[in-house]
Amino acid sequence: MKRLFVATLLAAGISLIAGSAFAQAKPEDAIKYRQGVYRVIGWNFAPMAAMVKGDRPYDAAAFARNADLVAYMSKLPLEGFVPGSEAGETKAKPEIWLDMDDFKAKLEKMQGEAAKLAEIAKGGDFTAIKIQFGETGKACKSCHDKYRNK
Ligand code: HEC
Repeated sequence: MKRLFVATLLAAGISLIAGSAFAQAKPEDAIKYRQGVYRVIGWNFAPMAAMVKGDRPYDAAAFARNADLVAYMSKLPLEGFVPGSEAGETKAKPEIWLDMDDFKAKLEKMQGEAAKLAEIAKGGDFTAIKIQFGETGKACKSCHDKYRNK
């Protein structure tokens, strides 16, 4: 009896783990996932903004690392925008799901700018870096203005 119970529990546990990897994500998990990704992006964006504004001394290695992480993380949010996740604890506007192609285009624009920033950051030319940081910030803003609630 006890054995059967343990076996059932184990099977349930395994299907839970497999479920999270293979099945369509639950909307509330998808929301947490994409917000987590954006938080990591924001976490790495802030020190670069401080350096560009002159609130913090320019540190080439730190800047390049932040830029690399933003470029990498920028590839991840899309899969968190699953159908049904427009409702709940989210600031994402339902318009995203009405024009997914435009949303994707804005994300791709940001990915491109972030990749370019990571590349330029390695060179250490702070004037060029500042310009490209501005372009990347614009790509964030153009999506937030249209698809994120305040
Ligand atoms: C293609 C659209 C898009 C682009 C590009 C984009 N974001 Fe966002 N961002 C969103 C949406 C939508 C949300 C709201 C997610 C939610 O609440 O479910 C968000 C949320 C955030 C959050 C809040 C996360 C939280 O829940 O605490 C931060 C920080 C953020 N974005 C930073 C950035 C930065 C920095 C960039 C540019 C490097 C950027 N985003 C580019 C769409 C975008």
